[in-house]
Amino acid sequence: MTQTDLGRPRPEFVHNGIAFGCDYNPEQWSPEVWAEDVRLMREAGVDLVAINIFGWSNVQPSPDRYNFDDLDAVITLLHDNGIRVNLGTGTSSAPPWLSTQHPEILPMVSDGTTRYPGGRQAWCPSSPVFRDYALRLVEKVAERYGNHPAVALWHVSNELGCHNGRCYCPTTAAAFRSWLEKKYGSIDSLNRAWGTSFWSQRYSTWSEIDTPKLTLSSGNPGQALDFQRFSSDELLSYYRSERDVIRRHSSVPVTTNFMVAAHIDNLDYWSWAPEMDVIANDHYLDHRLPDPAAELNFAADLTRGLANGEPWLLMEQATGAVNWQPHNIAKVPGEMVRNVMTHVARGADAVCSFQWRASLQGSEKFHSALVPHAGTDSAHWRSVVELGALLDRLDEVQGSRVVADVAVIFSWESTWASDGANMPSQSVKSLDQAHAAYNAARDAGLSVQMVSPDSDLSGYGLILVPGLYLVTDAQAARLADAVAAGAHAVVTYFSGIVDHDDRVRPGGYPGAFTELLGVRSEEFFPLMPGDQMQLEWVGTASTGIANSPATLWSENLHPTTAEVMATYVDGQLPGVPAVTLNSFGNGHAWYVATELGADTLRDLITRIASEAGVKRPSDALRFGSDGVEISRRVSAEHSYLFVINHSKEDVTVASIGYELVTETSVDNTLRVPAGAVRVVREDSRA
Ligand code: GAL
Repeated sequence: MTQTDLGRPRPEFVHNGIAFGCDYNPEQWSPEVWAEDVRLMREAGVDLVAINIFGWSNVQPSPDRYNFDDLDAVITLLHDNGIRVNLGTGTSSAPPWLSTQHPEILPMVSDGTTRYPGGRQAWCPSSPVFRDYALRLVEKVAERYGNHPAVALWHVSNELGCHNGRCYCPTTAAAFRSWLEKKYGSIDSLNRAWGTSFWSQRYSTWSEIDTPKLTLSSGNPGQALDFQRFSSDELLSYYRSERDVIRRHSSVPVTTNFMVAAHIDNLDYWSWAPEMDVIANDHYLDHRLPDPAAELNFAADLTRGLANGEPWLLMEQATGAVNWQPHNIAKVPGEMVRNVMTHVARGADAVCSFQWRASLQGSEKFHSALVPHAGTDSAHWRSVVELGALLDRLDEVQGSRVVADVAVIFSWESTWASDGANMPSQSVKSLDQAHAAYNAARDAGLSVQMVSPDSDLSGYGLILVPGLYLVTDAQAARLADAVAAGAHAVVTYFSGIVDHDDRVRPGGYPGAFTELLGVRSEEFFPLMPGDQMQLEWVGTASTGIANSPATLWSENLHPTTAEVMATYVDGQLPGVPAVTLNSFGNGHAWYVATELGADTLRDLITRIASEAGVKRPSDALRFGSDGVEISRRVSAEHSYLFVINHSKEDVTVASIGYELVTETSVDNTLRVPAGAVRVVREDSRA
């Protein structure tokens, strides 16, 4: 048990086995349906349900009237049936009476127009009026249910910042100014940090500073970056205010559902994570991406990174299609189980879905649910019941931790800075680089721990640093220390370029990492989309590495102390190094100065991992979204080998122990049919 910032022990989320749950919105249904719901929940083995997520207008129908009758009845019903409650504070969406009486709570977008109620989350995170009303509701809910035996977890608001991550209104501007005053102390120091000598942007008083609204040309990047930092802090402070109210009435753990996903990057969850009693994440397959399953892996590992390696809760996923993508793709048989098991294999101790019963009305009526529109006489319902039974068989893995000795450094702050306007190439996105490096490690069959640049890096044999554009001196020193102590690092292009203030580090690129990498480059040579460069790998570097063409980026790179491992054959820089290797202290630092093909990067990482002595959970398979996913969770007593077969062929894996999915023992060889999932409690002989 760790200490909270209040000096009290942090409440732990305790559950008997892997929790199986869902969002439950009984306010959309009649009490007769509730009784049927609970009967079916028991049939499926559902044991944790999130309620009151969007309950505000029901429990407080008018400013001075609260009505908890329905919530009381639902909580009692769930409790009587042994189903635990993940209790929403209900503040996610304000009722119409509040925005009618106080239109000043409505959020403003960057063009200065207000967004109206009628959807959800239409509130300004800095609004004292919204906060006041919301906290009064939280107080009532916490007072009433704080000690209720059914309540296992508090669910603050819902996906904070999903729609209202940035507000540009005058109230926010005032809060932004206070945040800036606290950060900089003097206007001169702000002017220096933002580089306001440029384009006549110098401020003489705080009151001249506004939120970074739409401008004719591009705006000030320092202002934009600080606004992103501020906006993340502002919502975190909102979270804290709800949590602190709950704390006065309840010792039950408190959390909120993160959105670690490719399409949402509003919040710096590294700063949020320490404030949660348990980390919870919502994840939906995103079919707008080229490889949705790879992004699922990334998100699950990043969530475990936020949990500091501890187990975490999958708070929402979809049992089938969502309804908010341009084309909402249903899951084929077996796919939901594979998705869910990817999360469990990567540390999730709860599997919850949005939502229990498919709505008949409202914006989400075509979103999948545990109980579909078709009812229980459906393949979908049967697959839900099977999932519940499967999770029951896996209960014993709860509490175990994933073993990983490859670190991938990821920073939301750096992503915000590097993905701004007026960069050398709009095709270079640090999130894409993070995914590429992560995928290479995954496809090499390695187990990855995602870490923040402020993390302790000791203990990792291999550290990947994809596109870490913004890096502080202290962060760069941590990496250098880890390499000097013996780690192998792979830094990819457009890293180390700017400091905390987004100020370019002069003297040659890659700025903060020139000494570590033993290289210096004088000019970037980004490529046009579609252009390619052939590479020539030097000497032994060519062995076992797929030589696909490089794209997107090159630079006029000179080695100072590094060895050249690959050069460009053509393009604008023939003969110039594309990949280098530097010995640094007891370790080795690779620089990848271009966008390698996915197979090339995978092979390179495979080779470096083996040189670094990093072990894979299992050898000799084809890994990845059309291959096999393997990871291991370890407890004090046991280790569990997870094998998820995404391929169309059966595979075999060396293993000895007891297989929990099929409840059979495994003697030397585990056979995993195409599309299936297996979990072996490994015999210590293995
Ligand atoms: C989440 C949200 C849920 C539901 C779900 C649909 O973002 O928390 O309330 O809207 O998406 O996929």
